[in-house]
Amino acid sequence: MLNFSFQNSTQIHFGEGQIQKISTSIPKDAKVLVTYGGGSIKTNGVYDQVVAALAEHTWFEFAGIEPNPTYAALMKAQALIKTHEIDYLLAVGGGSVIDGTKFIAAAALFQGDDPWDIIATGAPITAALPMGCILTLPATGSESNTGAVVTRDGHKLSFRNDLVRPAFAVLDPAVTLSLSDRQISNGVVDAFVHTVEQYLTYSVNGKVQDRFAEGLLQTLIEEGPKALAADTKNDIAVRANIMWSASLALNGLIGAGVPQDWTTHMIGHELTGTHGIDHARTLSILLPAVLKIRTEAKRGKLLQYAERVWHLTDADEDVRIQRAIELTEQFFETMQVPTRLKDVNLDASHIDTLIEKLTQHHMVKLSEHGDITPDISRKILMLALN
Ligand code: NZQ
Ligand code: ZN
Repeated sequence: MLNFSFQNSTQIHFGEGQIQKISTSIPKDAKVLVTYGGGSIKTNGVYDQVVAALAEHTWFEFAGIEPNPTYAALMKAQALIKTHEIDYLLAVGGGSVIDGTKFIAAAALFQGDDPWDIIATGAPITAALPMGCILTLPATGSESNTGAVVTRDGHKLSFRNDLVRPAFAVLDPAVTLSLSDRQISNGVVDAFVHTVEQYLTYSVNGKVQDRFAEGLLQTLIEEGPKALAADTKNDIAVRANIMWSASLALNGLIGAGVPQDWTTHMIGHELTGTHGIDHARTLSILLPAVLKIRTEAKRGKLLQYAERVWHLTDADEDVRIQRAIELTEQFFETMQVPTRLKDVNLDASHIDTLIEKLTQHHMVKLSEHGDITPDISRKILMLALN
């Protein structure tokens, strides 16, 4: 196992009816800004629960954080923060609202000229407004991690800082019942790929991390399709298992002390930044191609994945690996997400721009070995075409 330091200070309030806990998790004297997206919280009852829970707080609201949040939209919150002397943020939504609120939190107390420098040049964050969140879409793990992804003019980039880790996160699986099938699928697939990218690398004998990861993958394979099936889609136990899996997939636990390979995510961000494809759908398109191109580099772990996650023990090793990748693709198909670029109407003529942007964003040494060059990224995209 590799050396690591691990901390996750986010307090989790898990279960039905837990939104009311925000009344005690947010300091009573705070001036709160509630941030949210396009309005799903107004139609599914979450907003009303927030209003009831904040009855004794002073609070304001900032709406309109869009999926794949943009710098321009997020900066509009700054005037509100100054006018009302806001000193606490409550994000209510999916990964986009939570990520966007992390950026708002850091931008509000940024010492430099342009908060975009936090992302563009890695300018230091010395302070951020404290924040908590109510998660409405299990997928990204943003509710208890330190990362955030923001887009500006087609450049989809991330930053990471301990100061923007939410102080608390409410995970009420009942609020996920209003999700569309598309967003349920996206969430399950995003969590699955987060787990794979911290697991399918090379072995460092991290037995606990491996078995946690295998447990999360098996849970997502079992429960994901149930959240789409007519007779089980309203089962809160199914939603609860998906919600907790997605959170644990990217809260730092399974990635501590093991190599990680974020190739699929980094190329995926370019597909979203340039073509607007949903985050998870970029991943389901790219992961199979990454695994095929990297079969030798990932051989040992692919065999472990085949045996422990897909129960494949027969046949020779190459057949087993090929079958495990096929079953991964079949799982994505069951979750109704695309697995090829042609499924989202992209062809070879689009690849040059994606490679240029990867290079511009310094994504030229990807993978657990730092050896995926733009040429290899091009091969991955070519293999993902059809
Ligand atoms: O905006 P509203 O009206 O709330 O609607 C949203 C949005 O249209 C809707 N939705 C959310 N909860 C709902 C709901 N609709 C009905 N009922 C509910 N309970 O779903 C749509 C998509 O929401 P979004 O927040 O964009 O989805 P997701 O959670 O998948 O977040 C994606 C973003 O997170 C980033 C992605 O790059 C992308 O920008 N990621 C963040 C990570 C992190 N911070 O660690 C890691 C991830 O790999 C990822 O990159
Ligand atoms: Zn993701």
